[in-house]
Amino acid sequence: MEKILQGNRISLGTCYYPEHWDENLWKDDLARMKKNGIEAVRIAEFAWNKFEPAEGNYSFDFFDGFLEAAIEADMSVIFCTPTATPPAWLTHQYPEVLNARIDGTLLRHGARRHYNYNSPIYRRFTQGLVERIASHYGPHPAVIGWQIDNEINCETDEFYSDSDTAAFREFLKDKYTTLDALNAAWGTSFWNQTYTSWAEVYVPRPTISDSVNPHEVLDYIRFVSGSARSFVKLQSDIIRNYKKPGDFITTNGIFSNLDNHRMTAESLDFITYDSYPNFAFSLGSDPEHSADLNDRKWSRNLAEVRSISPVFGIMEQQSGANGWNTRMEAPAPRPGQMTLWTMQSIAHGADYVSFFRWRTCCMGTEIYWHGILDYSNRDNRRLAELHDIYQKTRAISVLAGSCYQAAFAVLRDYDNIWDAKLDVWHRRVEKESESGIFRAAQLSHTPMDYLYLTAEVSLETLKKYPVLFYPHPVILTEDRAALLESYVESGGTLVLGCRTGYKDINGKCPMVKLPGLLQKLSGADVVDYTFVAPDEGIITVEWDGEEFDAPVFNDVLEPLGKAEILGTYRKSYYAGKAALLCNAYGRGKVYYFGGAFSLRGASVFLKKLKLAEPHAHVIEAPQDCEIALRIKGDEKYYFVLNYSKEAVSITLKKELRDLYSGKTAAGKLELPPYGTAVYGVGL
Ligand code: GAL
Repeated sequence: MEKILQGNRISLGTCYYPEHWDENLWKDDLARMKKNGIEAVRIAEFAWNKFEPAEGNYSFDFFDGFLEAAIEADMSVIFCTPTATPPAWLTHQYPEVLNARIDGTLLRHGARRHYNYNSPIYRRFTQGLVERIASHYGPHPAVIGWQIDNEINCETDEFYSDSDTAAFREFLKDKYTTLDALNAAWGTSFWNQTYTSWAEVYVPRPTISDSVNPHEVLDYIRFVSGSARSFVKLQSDIIRNYKKPGDFITTNGIFSNLDNHRMTAESLDFITYDSYPNFAFSLGSDPEHSADLNDRKWSRNLAEVRSISPVFGIMEQQSGANGWNTRMEAPAPRPGQMTLWTMQSIAHGADYVSFFRWRTCCMGTEIYWHGILDYSNRDNRRLAELHDIYQKTRAISVLAGSCYQAAFAVLRDYDNIWDAKLDVWHRRVEKESESGIFRAAQLSHTPMDYLYLTAEVSLETLKKYPVLFYPHPVILTEDRAALLESYVESGGTLVLGCRTGYKDINGKCPMVKLPGLLQKLSGADVVDYTFVAPDEGIITVEWDGEEFDAPVFNDVLEPLGKAEILGTYRKSYYAGKAALLCNAYGRGKVYYFGGAFSLRGASVFLKKLKLAEPHAHVIEAPQDCEIALRIKGDEKYYFVLNYSKEAVSITLKKELRDLYSGKTAAGKLELPPYGTAVYGVGL
């Protein structure tokens, strides 16, 4: 079977559930898939009972039969481990494998993902099953890769079973060794929370005000992430023993309370993502007046995926309406949108796109989650669009293996992501800036990356970007501060926002002048700070003729050393005080801005730092279009994606190769509603 994601072609797949259909349909389904460009199917992620219908009673007949059909149809298979849906016989017999709510109520059989990662019994069953599945199917010629479980931490990213408490205690013993160290790290002298025995420590439990010690919660999130990672590693270690050389191991989706970078580095060959941009048009949304870019904001998620694996796969790409019978109502993709969202994924680095799902399920919670085909199985417009996508992906296949090229990056790290989850002050500034910077980049056609400050990230990686935004590094560590200093010293430009550096690694606030560990580098002294009071309205700042807002929170600044004041607040009791400083340091510069970054503020930064519209000399497009660039060798590949339901006009400022048609294109052109184009040109 031909491998996918080898950098030699763009390929398509679909998610198929042989257990949902009469066996007589398999042959016809596989042949129809092939005819329409599908070359791989993902199977078995929820089918535990087909392998182990009763405890210890293993059987492979069902999937052996399906794989035979796949071989006959020349269809490749991505095989999954079915651990996302423990069987009824298992949870009935061993309820301790179940996850629980924070109040201890067990989450029972009847949906999915109802297990916990730490139950020794669940791990034993998982090990037994994965060992058998991997040894049986590892050598199979139809199999080209493996997916572990399904969407780790989807549905819930919190775990409160007894096994979790037991494992949390071990995690903490390992981390702190003594209770004194734990009490110090968690600041338990506040509200008399001091622990005198490990048995007194639990995963968070209901409290009178629903607020649990924040330093404990931060460690709890780290613990959840570690538990999920170790569950994935348990499985990948087994699969690696049996899989054929070249077959990959992945899992799908990126979810919270999980260090997806570390999980991928320690257990996977690459991450795959599940992309459902149609959520933007769910019932209750207001897409006409939406300021958040609707389906286009999935490009933000794709930038996250790319930060984990520069070239990746989409395991589930939207192909129909969304809907469980209980929630998530969104319309069918309009003609062209399936193609648009596929090209959005490819533009951001996907070389494999697998559609969810081949045919809409006729039963269960997901009867409204539509696939390519409807219940009736008749040919429909989405199948016709798939066929057209197939032609298009064949035409652009040459760009497989190319890398997305960003003009700047936004730094992220899990300590701050997790702190923002539990801390409302942090969350508000982060949310504003995450959206402001992303939208400013999109609307000015400025491709951006996320760059995670993992333990492995090197100065060389940072130096790939002339400008790095680190909007609100509330938690700062000495290592990260030193890395940033080296980056700036060597010529980089660093942009920081309010609330930088006021917490330590445990989420406590040390008694230091702010912005703490970055005071010297930024040349900033935060002498006062406040939320923007609701009755103040909008507080603005002027920077060399450009006025913009400083929303959510304001650090009132004074320059240190030779730092220069670029802008001052124009309102409130701190009117006239510094809001924006620039500090030359080594060969580089640091900008410290006292607010969060709104769309307007971020747009001004992109313009002033000469990042905006980096490809305007090649393509001019209206704001409705995203422009993305992938580069391979000496070839550049420009994607132009029209998210609007109206046709738009774009201008090619030089002759480019239209990859879809193979012809040369130049000058003024029209992109139809939801239209896409891919242009090639030598460097
Ligand atoms: C994904 C999941 C699929 C299916 C789909 C539609 O999150 O992996 O199994 O549930 O959503 O709901």
